[in-house]
Amino acid sequence: MATDALIIDKINSYYGDSHVLHDVSLTLRKSSLLALLGRNGAGKTTTMMTVAGLVTAKTGEITLFGKPVARQKPETIARAGIRLVPQGRRIFPSLSVEENLKVAAQNREIQNPWNISRVFDLFPQLRDRIKQRAGTLSGGEQQMLAIGRALMGNPDVLLLDEPSEGLAPLIVAEVARGIKEIKNEGLSIILVEQNFQLAMSVADDVAVLNTGRLAYYGSAAEVQANPELATKHLGVF
Ligand SMILES: Nc1ncnc2c1ncn2[C@@H]1O[C@H](COP(=O)(O)OP(=O)(O)OP(=O)(O)O)[C@@H](O)[C@H]1O
Ligand SMILES: [Mg+2]
Repeated sequence: MATDALIIDKINSYYGDSHVLHDVSLTLRKSSLLALLGRNGAGKTTTMMTVAGLVTAKTGEITLFGKPVARQKPETIARAGIRLVPQGRRIFPSLSVEENLKVAAQNREIQNPWNISRVFDLFPQLRDRIKQRAGTLSGGEQQMLAIGRALMGNPDVLLLDEPSEGLAPLIVAEVARGIKEIKNEGLSIILVEQNFQLAMSVADDVAVLNTGRLAYYGSAAEVQANPELATKHLGVF
């Protein structure tokens, strides 16, 4: 049984002629959470989009439980078991909460598959909004719905791109609780965050990108034990 869910090996990604990711390599261990940190424009979203197949790596390899997935179509990558919750939480605003979840459903052979009822167990406040148009939800509820949509795809690997962005502290705590629960289910997660405290409260491993290059990769325990690492790489105290 492979112990690594995802191995990103020296990927180079571009927007047109602009070379954004430079030989980025990361490992996501099975059933663990990797926090991917870095300043604005560091390349975090581009890394997530490359894994999801929305940006094509010009060179490099990405393997999901040993299976190569780089340069495949986004649908193929989703079927293989990777789901992205994009930055800015894209949901269908004119569809109801229930419809948003239904259209995202994908059958995959996993233990304890997701369904609408389980998503509502995870984020109970969505249950009260089941018939409500998603565009009328609060930012926090939209984020919960976006995560719920990804879970309906029954992924093995979940990519969360700044789920706390723009949310009030109480809602951030609720989203963090949800992330912890999902992790305890055995999902392997990459979490992009600007909120260092949130990231450290759930991370097993930490990677820092700086202008498209990997600046740090190590365990969360190592970062906790060496605060100067966070200062050096992230400018946080
Ligand atoms: N669609 C695009 N076309 C051209 N350049 C882009 C595009 N998207 C991002 N970039 C550039 O690529 C670099 C990496 O951007 P990316 O969005 O991956 O960073 P990020 O770490 O996610 O930043 P943020 O914290 O602001 O979300 C930046 O220099 C950005 O300006
Ligand atoms: Mg981003």
